[in-house]
Amino acid sequence: MTHGKSGRGDAHGKAILMGEHAVVYGFPAVAVPLPEIKVSAEATSREGDDWLDCTYYRGPLQNAPSELAGLRLLIVEGLERIKWRRPIGITIRSDIPAGYGLGSSAAVAAAVARALYHLAGAPLPRETLLELVAVSETMCHGEPSGVDAQATTGLDPLWFVRGRSPEIVAIPTPMYLVVAASSQPGNTRHTVQQVRALQERLGSGTGPIDRIGALTAASRPAIEHGDYPYLGALMIEVHRELAALNAATSEVEQLVAAALRHEALGAKLTGGGGGGSMVVLAKDIQQQRQLADVLMSAGATRVWTPIVRGTGLSAIN
Ligand code: PMV
Repeated sequence: MTHGKSGRGDAHGKAILMGEHAVVYGFPAVAVPLPEIKVSAEATSREGDDWLDCTYYRGPLQNAPSELAGLRLLIVEGLERIKWRRPIGITIRSDIPAGYGLGSSAAVAAAVARALYHLAGAPLPRETLLELVAVSETMCHGEPSGVDAQATTGLDPLWFVRGRSPEIVAIPTPMYLVVAASSQPGNTRHTVQQVRALQERLGSGTGPIDRIGALTAASRPAIEHGDYPYLGALMIEVHRELAALNAATSEVEQLVAAALRHEALGAKLTGGGGGGSMVVLAKDIQQQRQLADVLMSAGATRVWTPIVRGTGLSAIN
């Protein structure tokens, strides 16, 4: 039974344009927010047990399944920090599919943290928000770089290096993207561990991770000068390296191949992989729409068509 007092919080999806996996090892990543794929959370004072209501579970918080352990931990930690002592109900509504490399777990954690602080009427400094998201992400991912926490809570395209404040990437010309989900969710924890094992075998300096780092470094001037043909070529190279890390499923490979056959500037896996989603860079809005149809015909289960502009002006048509 609800008790009246409530707080709300929001966050949104993200796509990693360049640098996934390498970002865990201190290389840069470029991430863009997807502000129209939203998550919202409501925290309500109630009677009885602490309660969770989300897509995957509805019931007492303490009985939530192990897949939600990170979220449970974040709620407990958040309640402790705001010194909340009464039973609480958390309701989460999300448009971000979980396990698709689009930042679902970080966005859910951020929306819930914001809802808790709103409920308590307490200010939530950005540093605290990021710490709370990290509590949940560490449980979900093992060793999150922090890029998802940043990109799902702000509206700017970001240049992110682990442990540093992110920089805003200037985008002089609109970037027409297509994000497509395959039929299979990925498992970022698993692919991050798999990449770790490979990286330890290869040592640093020569393998796919280092090459992704170098390709991503080259992408920043390409983005800032609006040289999207070159950016697209770099995306294709990064995809090859991610495939060498066994992060791309055959289904994602098919989607990438379909986009390139139809003359996309670039196409690659996005996020942790092992399933999940891919991202395409189109030449213009007409090609963006055409490629969205191509990807649906090639087996994508969902497509989004974000247009990334300058700073804080991203939109999805
Ligand atoms: O799959 P996602 O959306 O959680 O993205 C993970 C990105 C990685 O670089 C693979 C991991 C990380 O923490 O940066």
